[in-house]
Amino acid sequence: MAKPRLLTGLQPSGDLHIGNYFGALKPFVDTYEKYDSFLMVVDYHALTSLKSPDELRKNTIEAVRTYLAVGVDPNKAVIFKQSDVPAHTELAWIFDCLVTVPFLMQAHAYKDKVAKGLEANAGLFTYPMLMAADILLYDAEAVPVGEDQRQHIEYAREAAAKFNKAFTEVFKAPKELILKATGVVPGTDGKKMSKSYGNTIPLFGSREEIQKAVMSIVTDSSAGIPENVYAMHKLLKSEAELAPLYEANKGSYKALKDALVEDLDAFIAPMREKRESISDAEVASVLADGAEKAREVSEAKMEAVRKAVGVR
Ligand code: TYM
Repeated sequence: MAKPRLLTGLQPSGDLHIGNYFGALKPFVDTYEKYDSFLMVVDYHALTSLKSPDELRKNTIEAVRTYLAVGVDPNKAVIFKQSDVPAHTELAWIFDCLVTVPFLMQAHAYKDKVAKGLEANAGLFTYPMLMAADILLYDAEAVPVGEDQRQHIEYAREAAAKFNKAFTEVFKAPKELILKATGVVPGTDGKKMSKSYGNTIPLFGSREEIQKAVMSIVTDSSAGIPENVYAMHKLLKSEAELAPLYEANKGSYKALKDALVEDLDAFIAPMREKRESISDAEVASVLADGAEKAREVSEAKMEAVRKAVGVR
């Protein structure tokens, strides 16, 4: 019997952080061998905010190096770039013609931008339908993501239902895979870790960068335990492992932060080294191979879609 499909993606918007890792990449790496797995770099999504071709190219390569460095074997998962598969934007258009403007106006990413008084481009507005296409083209059953993407998976289910109702049953409903413990990884200020909040620990940071970020952790404490330091430490070690350290250093924030730097660095160092060993040629070859496999699967689905809507 064919394995069920697992799929996720990251925007190549630069500076990946440990929130991306624990929220989406680690859950992917931990389970991907049990599935028929697809891992994307969603470069067209990044275009909603990034307007530098050099940076987009560089970040895309970095995203693939990240996938390989965190332990994804390209022989066991299809690693590909969204823009290499034209069916994604083609299907997104069809979904755009099925959903309403008020429905898209409820999307968090759009609402946040408007609430900040910023002007949202039309790509940001229809972003959830491109993401729905990313997922539905591959009949993905499980989508490992952080909590902030939950609504997007709901939108994908809605797009599938609307299409199936308007035309014929073509799409399967996907399900988010969000881990309770790491669905929202906190940043140095205790809020959700996010590049736009400037509260991140870089995924491949040097020891100095890790140290600088950890020293900036806001130390609100309860009973001598700095909560934000502890929350981050729990990503790396169990509560039982941490108990003696936090008991022995109650109120001593510097010692606890030093211990966190030590543990983060020990955790990140092997991935940092692996990432440095991956050449641009290797990335290019992984992407060429991945594009071919992703096109094969998505094209079959897209042909069914074209027939269903009447352009074939
Ligand atoms: P992106 O690029 O913003 O983030 C990549 C993944 O990292 C997760 N994440 C977090 N998880 C826990 N705690 C945090 N602080 C944290 N910050 C980020 C995100 O939830 C995400 O899973 N729209 C998506 C990319 C996308 C996609 C897809 C994902 C496009 N098409 C299809 C899955 C399937 C995004 O912008 O993620």
